[in-house]
Amino acid sequence: MQRSAEIAGFDSLSDYLRHLHASQSSLTPSTLRVREESPLYGLVEPSVYAETERGKVFHGDSLGLLHETLKESSVDLIMTSPPFGLVRKKSYGNEDADKYIEWFRPFAQGMRRVLKEKGSLVIDIGGAWKPGTPTRSLYHFELLITLCREYGFHLCQEHYWWNPAKLPTPAEWVNVRRVRVKDAVNCIWWLSKTPWPKASNRRILSPYSDSMKALLTNGYTPKLRPSGHDISDKFGKDNGGSVPPNLLALANTESNGTYQEYCRANNLPVHPARFPSRIPEYFIRMLTDERDLVVDPFGGSCVTGEVAESLNRKWVCCELDEDYLKGAMSRFVGVKPRLPKADNAPYQVFPPCSLNGAADNSPLAEDGGFQRTVKVPKQRTLRLV
Ligand SMILES: C[S@@+](CC[C@H](N)C(=O)[O-])C[C@H]1O[C@@H](n2cnc3c(N)ncnc32)[C@H](O)[C@@H]1O
Repeated sequence: MQRSAEIAGFDSLSDYLRHLHASQSSLTPSTLRVREESPLYGLVEPSVYAETERGKVFHGDSLGLLHETLKESSVDLIMTSPPFGLVRKKSYGNEDADKYIEWFRPFAQGMRRVLKEKGSLVIDIGGAWKPGTPTRSLYHFELLITLCREYGFHLCQEHYWWNPAKLPTPAEWVNVRRVRVKDAVNCIWWLSKTPWPKASNRRILSPYSDSMKALLTNGYTPKLRPSGHDISDKFGKDNGGSVPPNLLALANTESNGTYQEYCRANNLPVHPARFPSRIPEYFIRMLTDERDLVVDPFGGSCVTGEVAESLNRKWVCCELDEDYLKGAMSRFVGVKPRLPKADNAPYQVFPPCSLNGAADNSPLAEDGGFQRTVKVPKQRTLRLV
């Protein structure tokens, strides 16, 4: 982004962002085509860094990829996880949450340009806390609304990726003042250019639950549910699996053995914000056919590329930081990329209030936790009878 600002002749990144914002705020979907004379786009096309039988890794700014390198209406699925507007900066160059939308605009424009009419755009994006208070930034919701209202995308369905292995952070709000709960869910926005992108949930069925298996074996008596839903006898038909909910339960503890070992052995940074391969796998299976083109403009360690290659899709990944690409090469050298061995153990999640109120019931702090007081638990006195 800094480089794009310099190339476009701006003294600072914020001037560039202001310019982008001002020059694009009146855009409607019909005016989204980038004008060739625009000084902003495509000046630096990323260079091909590596190629496989089905895919290409590009090194450079994906603005060039989205506005120049890729053909208009050529992509079936953009599957990506952009840098998040985190308050606590990570080492991969997050943008300030406030400036996030402005930063994202030219990418949105390019994404719309390259997507086919029946294609999908899937964005995995984490939430962020506002600095200094236990309140949340709205940036990822603002992004969603901007993409739909200003860039003409349709929200096909929001998904939520629950990571059961997430640590309870921010510790100050969750562990010390105890006024918020663990933030363990990422939003995944599934968007498209028309309300009818190609898709099939038959590709991503989940195993039946034990109760459903019993029902399939023992049969089902059609009846009206308390909710008013009339459950017909078709409910008892074995469809090979159940339609999953839009909650993806998946711990981000994938060892990625070869990738990590390769990075360590070659003194390369292990990418700090990889998504587990099942996230792209789920959407690639559901939204594309074999030989369709999948693109990840914020490629990182090229998980999307590896999954797409193994599922026989064509693919393109683009990444700004060459060190991440050096590590990503381990995914494609030697043996054909393979999806990690399946661990299909389900996760347990308790219904709310499962301790039946047996926890601490002392009065709530009137100041909502503003004062940092560490509560000392009351000594229980045992009366012997
Ligand atoms: C959240 S990470 C993606 C991680 C990736 N999904 C994975 O599993 O390895 C976002 C990546 O976008 C890259 N990035 C940021 N701005 C970019 C740009 N303009 N062009 C290409 N890559 C960019 C960052 O360097 C970072 O590696």
